[in-house]
Amino acid sequence: MLQTVYRWIDERLEISPIIDHALKKRVPDHKHSAWYYWGGICLFFFMVQVVTGILLMIYYRPGPDAYDSVRQITYEIRFGWLIRSVHAWSANLMIGAVFVHMFSVFFMKAYRNPREFGWWSGLALLALCMVFGFSGYLLPMDELAFFATRVGLAIPDALPGMSQLISALLRGGPEVSSATLQRFFALHVVVLPAIFVPLLGFHLWLVQKHGNALPPSEEAKPAAERRSIPFFPNFAMRDMAVWLMALNLLALLVALFPLQLDVAADALKPAPVGIHPEWYFMSQFEALKLLGHVIPGTLGEFVGLGVFGVGMGMWAAIPLFDSRVTTSLRARLTTWFGLLFLAALILLTIIGYIEVL
Ligand code: HEM
Repeated sequence: MLQTVYRWIDERLEISPIIDHALKKRVPDHKHSAWYYWGGICLFFFMVQVVTGILLMIYYRPGPDAYDSVRQITYEIRFGWLIRSVHAWSANLMIGAVFVHMFSVFFMKAYRNPREFGWWSGLALLALCMVFGFSGYLLPMDELAFFATRVGLAIPDALPGMSQLISALLRGGPEVSSATLQRFFALHVVVLPAIFVPLLGFHLWLVQKHGNALPPSEEAKPAAERRSIPFFPNFAMRDMAVWLMALNLLALLVALFPLQLDVAADALKPAPVGIHPEWYFMSQFEALKLLGHVIPGTLGEFVGLGVFGVGMGMWAAIPLFDSRVTTSLRARLTTWFGLLFLAALILLTIIGYIEVL
């Protein structure tokens, strides 16, 4: 019966070459193989986001009623707190997993020819994840969300000409208001998914096309000494086991630290002390603050944003700079650059938290 259905579909859609390709796919097996799970972990959390996001949309009401609808979801609707907490925790875990995935790809030098587009599409996905986080943060319209968004939007305001653009496009006026909320909602549930999903499809298609990259230590070995395992069922089963661990971690965090709701935002009240962005914006926030001590005022922010721009450009250009030989000076310089970048991110985040807590 199943075979008849399969043949009926195959005659029309010719799916058997795709199935054959998937069944033949192999994954390198070596001492760094555990890093291959991280892309899948990002994917798992993304799927959790889609499902819980759709469930939240059933009760969330963008507009003047937003805060009240989130209060109902959190304290009145059955399991509403669970869905909201899972959505928020999974967002944080997803961004954390994307960072781990990016640095593991970096240190395995998996951005090299022919995987440059994997690197670039990945960077775009990371940027989109961060905008997802920033836009989602405002949606409850509580005090914390309101002031964090106000601070966040004030940063690009420092760039010449940006203030009007941000007021017109994002904030919907000179101050964060329900017009901003409406825009952020559209961004969060329509614009970002519409860009993210096809880009993710492209990213995953590239992985199928090129297969998993070998780290330099494995590439140095003769081909006969390299080991690999079939993707189906061996690696897929391991992937599932890792997803189960990710689900357990998520459940634990949600049960122990369910998301709360602050008081409703009030633009007339002064900002609460120690207002700070989410952890994944903390290093940039702190870098701007430190630079502000050296070059005060708008010029400091302007220089800071310029430095970020150049830094991101260099990070994106890595596959062009270090494209082939593992033992070259360029390869070593790139590894040092990555180590320095990682250390700066961690250090600035820690200093940022010490200052605000
Ligand atoms: C939502 C975000 C992302 C998702 C869902 C995702 C998903 C995946 C998956 C499932 C794989 C195959 C398994 C693996 O090698 O881990 C992969 C590979 C890859 N990803 Fe991502 N990824 C994301 C973000 C990124 C970022 C931020 C970068 C780097 C800037 C990146 C660069 C790459 C590269 C170069 C590969 C190929 C690795 C190899 O050949 O071994 N990805 N990604």
